[in-house]
Amino acid sequence: MSDYKLLFDRAAELKLRHKQGILDRSLLGKSIGLIFDKPSTRTRISFEVAAIQLGGTPVFISSGDTQMARNEPIEDTARVLSRYLDGVAFRTFSQDLVEQFAAFADIPVINALTDKYHPCQILSDLMTVIEYKGSYEGLKVAWIGDGNNMAHSWINAAAALGFTLTLACPEAYVPDTEIFDAAVQKNASVSLTHDPKKAALGADVINTDVWASMGQEDEQAERQAVFETFQVNKDLLAVAAEDAIVMHCLPAHRGEEITEEVLEGPRSVVWDQAENKLHMHKAILDVLLK
Ligand code: CP
Ligand code: NVA
Repeated sequence: MSDYKLLFDRAAELKLRHKQGILDRSLLGKSIGLIFDKPSTRTRISFEVAAIQLGGTPVFISSGDTQMARNEPIEDTARVLSRYLDGVAFRTFSQDLVEQFAAFADIPVINALTDKYHPCQILSDLMTVIEYKGSYEGLKVAWIGDGNNMAHSWINAAAALGFTLTLACPEAYVPDTEIFDAAVQKNASVSLTHDPKKAALGADVINTDVWASMGQEDEQAERQAVFETFQVNKDLLAVAAEDAIVMHCLPAHRGEEITEEVLEGPRSVVWDQAENKLHMHKAILDVLLK
């Protein structure tokens, strides 16, 4: 069974069991470190609750309060934390830093978002797609907006799972060429356009994200001008499949990348998406740590 399928099945099972009031305790006695260098509402809290619901103990680590902030080498931090913890979820800027940490840790290390990827988010997003559409197979997924960390993780998922993915990004904000080209080698139905309507045409799933990600706050005004025509609004939705769903990992900026009307409208599945982060994070911890 692929790792993806294993996680989708386990997350669905854990969600059902939770709704039925069944307690799962697969992480009893385990401690999970959550190292965060960037703000988070959903990822942090859903990982904390996921660990608690499975009988484990989350340990929140704001890296600014550790010796990491005073330049203790990441290699040393990884080896020390491996002696205390059973797993780590790490949110930071640099993908290389997470990989360096993982190379020196001897516990599972989970990417909780970097500037390059947001893999846990795409897992819970695909779980939501499966709930609404039965499967991702044969679906046409559109990405509208920045070629950012979320876009990269959608590209990797399309490469692994074979669904059609069309990204519409402004010319100066396309995804990383290496990531994109590698995906196209595996799945020829991953493509890029600069026209949001082309990407949305007949799409079953429409995805967007903020125009300025964490760490890009200074570029907000400049980006707002470039991305103006990349808004998910009712005109864009009109060219999608009649039963298309609209997704956003949140936080959303209403009136920028998505209108209030669409975000709060009947096609939006954003609250289920947010909820599924809890169930998917439980599955990830369960599979990696138990
Ligand atoms: N979607 C997401 O990762 O949200 P947070 O930044 O609140 O964790
Ligand atoms: N692209 C966004 C995702 C937030 C969950 C960011 O990195 O800020």
